[in-house]
Amino acid sequence: MLKGKTALITGGSRGIGRAIALALAAEGADIAVIYNGGETAARAVCEEAAQWGGKAVAYACNVADPDQVPTVVAAILSEFGGVDILVNNAGITRDGLLASMSEEDFIRVMEVNLGGAFHFTKSLYGHFLKKRSGRIINISSVSGLMGNPGQANYAASKAGLIGFTKSVAKELAGRGITCNAVAPGFIQTEMTEKLPREKQEAIRQQIPLRRFGTPEDVAQVVVFLAGETGGYITGEVIRVDGGLYI
Ligand code: NAI
Repeated sequence: MLKGKTALITGGSRGIGRAIALALAAEGADIAVIYNGGETAARAVCEEAAQWGGKAVAYACNVADPDQVPTVVAAILSEFGGVDILVNNAGITRDGLLASMSEEDFIRVMEVNLGGAFHFTKSLYGHFLKKRSGRIINISSVSGLMGNPGQANYAASKAGLIGFTKSVAKELAGRGITCNAVAPGFIQTEMTEKLPREKQEAIRQQIPLRRFGTPEDVAQVVVFLAGETGGYITGEVIRVDGGLYI
């Protein structure tokens, strides 16, 4: 149970982030949902979360913006009185073979996927230190472990997130704060819906469990890491990929 805890979820308006926000709320947590452009969807997540009796508020913020993040974190700390669980989930793809990948697409993916986690973790660092507790959960990807053609930028950002996770875990473990990564495989969301049908089918054939995962498959692992159940786990990368990386 996460009653009395506050969770901040970036990119919580849809897909995996939405499922994580709702799963944490279902466990009793209050939730702060960060969205970028999906206001109606973010508000709908908060309305749905209200059924479990906790507080749920949506905040607009571009995670890649070093000025916006500390401001929104300060607003959340003041509204909720603290944050216990940070889920760095917001992420984008700008796929393309390296020969044709623009510098802009490379940098943008880094700024959102890796920069976003950096800005939020840094903004909550002092707060977690003072409380001598906190759970940081970064949503990486099996692409960051395996590499993937057409995803040099994305895979680099997700591999970077793993190095970031392990470093932060070592830096903060002495204060009772854990930092872990979850590495999903192919999960049914708008991100993977963009892939052509034939490509989706070819991927499915490579997955030992022969199906794409659901956002809830990922969310339940986040709930596990966020709760008492995850108390002795830090610096870990948990794959939720149907065996793709075996
Ligand atoms: P999605 O595209 O459905 O949702 C991404 C969320 O991030 C959206 O709410 C979006 O508004 C938000 N976001 C994007 N840029 C943002 C920014 N600059 N500031 C604030 N929010 C921003 O994607 P999905 O599939 O739910 O992915 C969630 C996370 O899981 C991502 O980090 C993704 O890389 C990762 N992932 C997804 C996999 C999949 O198969 N769908 C596989 C492995 C990892």
